[in-house]
Amino acid sequence: MIYRAAIFDLDGVIADTARLHLQAWRQLAEALQRPWADDTEEKLKGLERMASLEVILGGESGNFSEETKLALASRKNSRYQELIRSLSPEDLLPGAGKLLAWLYERKIPIALASASKNAPAVLQALGISDFFSYIADPEQSAPKPSPEIFLAAAQGLQVEAEFCIAFEDAAAGVTAIKAAQGMTAVGVGSESTLGSADYIVGSLEMFDPKDFFLSAIRAAVVS
Ligand code: BG6
Ligand code: MG
Repeated sequence: MIYRAAIFDLDGVIADTARLHLQAWRQLAEALQRPWADDTEEKLKGLERMASLEVILGGESGNFSEETKLALASRKNSRYQELIRSLSPEDLLPGAGKLLAWLYERKIPIALASASKNAPAVLQALGISDFFSYIADPEQSAPKPSPEIFLAAAQGLQVEAEFCIAFEDAAAGVTAIKAAQGMTAVGVGSESTLGSADYIVGSLEMFDPKDFFLSAIRAAVVS
């Protein structure tokens, strides 16, 4: 397959921000005296904000009004925003900056498909906003594992889904990509949680773009 575009999740793929989301949720769970199980961390990865709150509240969810839930989610978000204030290009995960620059220099369009409403601010703080031709709006798509946000990203780049390769660290995200009309999924993390991806790498450093995009560049030069 000759790929023509790349689509990235943000938290846990490009930047080490999944850790900051978890830190903020954990503080809220502690304040509410909610248990933090062994699999809570994995469950929260990639989930949008209100769905994440439901995981934290668990069986107690029915005891909270919608208004209180919104206030709790907003409290977590304020804490998260405090934590991302100190982000800098040093917080890019291994290989992320190099891969984005490699694609950008070769005019391979790049989109973001993140569930996070804070994504534009995070890209700015990391100094990588300019690499992105399109940022899919999470408020306009059903949350992952629905494929909608990845399809919106492909559409934003005007590249058919089957010619896009997408990167995810969360199981829900890999499921979303695999449901996106022939899109190819690269799982960034471990085989145990991302087993359904087409390729799995420990980090973006281990992904060699030459194997996936060079033929696209050659084809463009020849035609
Ligand atoms: C995802 C993260 O990218 O964005 C989740 O993996 C997070 O942990 C979700 O809950 C929503 O983020 P935000 O910034 O809109 O609360
Ligand atoms: Mg992620």
